[in-house]
Amino acid sequence: MLKTNPNNPERGKIGRAAAIIRRGGTVAFPTETVYGLGANALDAKAVKRVFVAKGRPFDDPLIVHISHMQELYGLVKNVDARAKILAEKFWPGPLTLVMNCSDIVPRITTGNLDSVAIRMPNNKIALALIEKAGLPIAAPSANLFGKPSPTSAHHVKEDLHGKIDAIIDGGKTRIGVESTVLDLTFKIPVILRPGEITRDKIEKAIGKIKVHSLVRKKGGARGKMIARAPGMKYKHYAPKAHLIVIKKSANFWAQVRKLSSNYAKNKVGVITSKNSRDRNGFIVKSLGRNAKQAAKNIFRIFREFDRSGVEIIISEGIPEKGLGMAVMNRMRKAADRVL
Ligand code: TXA
Ligand code: MG
Repeated sequence: MLKTNPNNPERGKIGRAAAIIRRGGTVAFPTETVYGLGANALDAKAVKRVFVAKGRPFDDPLIVHISHMQELYGLVKNVDARAKILAEKFWPGPLTLVMNCSDIVPRITTGNLDSVAIRMPNNKIALALIEKAGLPIAAPSANLFGKPSPTSAHHVKEDLHGKIDAIIDGGKTRIGVESTVLDLTFKIPVILRPGEITRDKIEKAIGKIKVHSLVRKKGGARGKMIARAPGMKYKHYAPKAHLIVIKKSANFWAQVRKLSSNYAKNKVGVITSKNSRDRNGFIVKSLGRNAKQAAKNIFRIFREFDRSGVEIIISEGIPEKGLGMAVMNRMRKAADRVL
């Protein structure tokens, strides 16, 4: 565990972590969204270690992280005008661009696809690590496959202790949900995963785009659409407890009582955007006042409920505006039922 100052990362610590990456090891590090589990993106053996540590299926592609615009040109077939505008405007930042992949990227990194997902994270530790390693770093979120993404080094340790070579602890992540994934291999770009860079912001920069229909569907989707949205066929981000999301309800607490009637009260977790004082004996956690706070809190709350042995979680939905769309996407993918 390398505790590092997020505002002014110590060179010695970044150097040690970069050396691990350079010799084919795995290092978890903070980004502005969630913690990532990094390895040399161009080394098939190193990338395999990431899949194995997470227990991640090999058809779920990784995101390649870069620290300079020039690195992009080596990784993809061509950088079109849209990619240039978006990179200029949003990098470093929480926008991942999917583009046609060059031959230097091993296919294990891309889940055997001919496209590769790339982003430049807006976090000093992440940028220093990539720069010092001198390589693009493949990094999925640093959680066990299917679990909530980690927003602190402690969450990473909880899932991956003993399975990876190092963790850089740079404190809590700023945003709390993963980057927006935008597929640029289509004529009209498609959002595959919503994040802080919203559809509106992207459309202001490059004109009309689409949102993939699976974004608003519950986890574990099936059918032919999955071929175009790798990684989206799995249930993600999920706590151990049975999760029910109530999108809108005139009487939320009446619904909670009804849905939890077969459980002991101390086995019921409730997530609401209102205050977090105990209500009716249930364990209640607050998402916060707005979408920004909800994004920051959602994965931490799932993990806390897991630790306290809750068996059912009932969560209130939030409006799907701005970051709210990303939060609701993660809730749906984690949910057993959406009402
Ligand atoms: O914010 C983030 O993006 C975080 C931090 C660590 O950077 N990373 C992250 O990675 O969330 P991960 O592996 O948990 O999510 C990667 C997802 C895949 O599951 C898939 O949906 C999409 O990105 N993806 C990656 N490569 C793709 C490709 N070639 N085509 C389509 N989707 C792709
Ligand atoms: Mg993930």
